[in-house]
Amino acid sequence: MSPFALRLVLLGPPGAGKGTQALLLEKRYALRRISTGDLLRRHRADKTPLGMEAQPYMDHGDLVPDPIVIGMMEADLPRENGFILDGFPRTIAQANALGEMLRRLEIPLTAAVLFSAEREELIRRLTGRWTNPRSGKVYHTLYSPPKVVGVDDEDGGPLVQRADDTLETVTNRLDVYERDTRPLIEFYDTAGLLVRVDAMRSVDDVTAQIMQALRAVGGLAVS
Ligand code: AP5
Repeated sequence: MSPFALRLVLLGPPGAGKGTQALLLEKRYALRRISTGDLLRRHRADKTPLGMEAQPYMDHGDLVPDPIVIGMMEADLPRENGFILDGFPRTIAQANALGEMLRRLEIPLTAAVLFSAEREELIRRLTGRWTNPRSGKVYHTLYSPPKVVGVDDEDGGPLVQRADDTLETVTNRLDVYERDTRPLIEFYDTAGLLVRVDAMRSVDDVTAQIMQALRAVGGLAVS
C-alpha cells in the first residue's frame, strides 16, 4: 500500500506523545495531520462561535461535546490521500461517527495506534511541555529542550505553555481519558484495527515501533 493511502487514528492518554509522532509521520509521508485539539485552539484564538462554545470545556480539561467535534471533523476530513487523526475519536459516539464518514467516502481506516504510558510520566511530560502554537512543534524542558529557552529552534518564534497543562487540569484530563476514551481500545481491537506501541520509550523508538506495526498490518510497504 502506498503511504499516501495510510489512514491512521492515534489513540492514547494526554501527554503520551501522539502530537509529537503525528508531526513526524506527517513530514515523513506527506500525510495530512488533523489534530482536533489544534483545530479547537485555533477556533478559540479566532473567537469563532465554535471556539467560544468549546472554551469552558477545554479550560477544565473536559471533552468538548460530541456534536461540536463531529460537525467540525465532518467539515475537515480529507477525501483524498492519507491522514493522521490526532485526538479524534475520543468517545464511542465519535468513533461511530468516524466509521460512518469513512463508509460514506468508501475509504477504510488502516489502523488505530494505541500509545501506552504510565500516569506519573504523562504528568511529567505535560507539565514540562512547551509548544510552538503556529507549527504545533513540541518541546520538553527536560527531554527535548529548545536551544534557547522559550524560542523555537526552527522558526525562531516564541514557545508557549498550554493553559490546560497545569497539574490540576492535567489530572482531570487523565481521568476523562480513563472514563470516556479508554473504551475505544476495545472498540478498535474488536474491529481488528488496534496496534500497540510502548510510549514510555524514546521518541525515535516510538517512531520505529509505529513503522514496524504498520508494516505488520500491511499499511507500509516502504521504510
Ligand atoms: P489535545 O490537544 O488533543 O490534547 P491531549 O489529547 O490531551 O493530548 P496532548 O496534546 O496533551 O498530548 P500528546 O499525546 O499529543 O503529547 P505530545 O506529543 O504533545 O486536546 C486538548 C483539549 O481539546 C481536550 O482536553 C478537549 O477539551 C479538547 N478536545 C480535543 N479533541 C477532542 C475530541 N475529539 N473530543 C472532545 N474534545 C476534544 O507530548 C507531550 C510532551 O512529552 C511534550 O513535551 C513532548 O516533547 C514530550 N514527549 C513526547 N514523546 C516523548 C517521548 N517518547 N519521550 C519523552 N518525552 C516525550
